[in-house]
Amino acid sequence: MSKVIAITGANRGLGLEFVKQYSQDSNVTVIAYQRSDDRSAIEALKKDNVKIIKLDAADDEQVKKAVEETKKITKSIDILINNAAINTGPFKLTEPQDLSPISKVHDTNVLGPIRVTTSFLPLLREGKDKKVIFISSGVASLTRTVKKSFGPMAPYAMSKTGLNMVVALYSVELSDEGFTCLAFDPGHVQTDMGGGHAPLTPPESIKNMIAKISSVSPEVNGKFFAVKGDPGSTKMEEEDW
Ligand SMILES: NC(=O)c1ccc[n+]([C@@H]2O[C@H](COP(=O)([O-])OP(=O)(O)OC[C@H]3O[C@@H](n4cnc5c(N)ncnc54)[C@H](OP(=O)(O)O)[C@@H]3O)[C@@H](O)[C@H]2O)c1
Repeated sequence: MSKVIAITGANRGLGLEFVKQYSQDSNVTVIAYQRSDDRSAIEALKKDNVKIIKLDAADDEQVKKAVEETKKITKSIDILINNAAINTGPFKLTEPQDLSPISKVHDTNVLGPIRVTTSFLPLLREGKDKKVIFISSGVASLTRTVKKSFGPMAPYAMSKTGLNMVVALYSVELSDEGFTCLAFDPGHVQTDMGGGHAPLTPPESIKNMIAKISSVSPEVNGKFFAVKGDPGSTKMEEEDW
């Protein structure tokens, strides 16, 4: 059966790997949303079932335009993956400094997925799967934070905890319509954001996430799942909020 899968931040890193793996299936149409004007990474895949649309998740007008462009391609979206995000780097709350990175990261990582998800809801409501995946992070976990599991990245960590609340709220607001809204921690992965020494490769992380996305149903709506940092691991487990 054909499916339409929409992915934000699709031009590099985990987003590009989602596009690569999903587009292997000729029954899938992948809509690859990217902020950049440089289409070369996705065009290099040479896949007729991948459509590129410009979308900056931090720009209301661009998100609206992206919805209109999408409607020219499809009447429905089955799976939306809110993947686009930024991390402005190390930041300790105890060190006096400019607080603007907190609002900048919040605008992209928390408000971005809200702009995108709510704007695309009419298309998602027409979809068969009604799955909305939010790429969160282990650093979102309050439980793991107080166990000192992570270095200081306050803007990013706060944004991903905020994102998890967004997931919980969408899961409640959309539960009567049969949606499955989930937060995923992809594990620590070798991308520009994750760095070259991360234990997981993008193909490993994305393989696990795609397997999870295809197996979930509304019974797990509103949960947080993680790809654990063991490259041999092939399944995602429930994560501490
Ligand atoms: N890699 C890890 O270890 C790791 C761990 C936990 C969670 N994550 C999460 O996994 C997701 C993907 O991360 P990644 O490692 O692939 O990061 P990445 O290599 O830095 O790629 C980030 C992607 O997001 C896009 N993006 C950033 N701001 C955007 C905006 N305002 N609008 C649209 N696109 C925007 C970037 O586009 P441009 O090319 O235009 O900048 C790029 O395509 C993120 O949500 C990240 O927080 C990653």
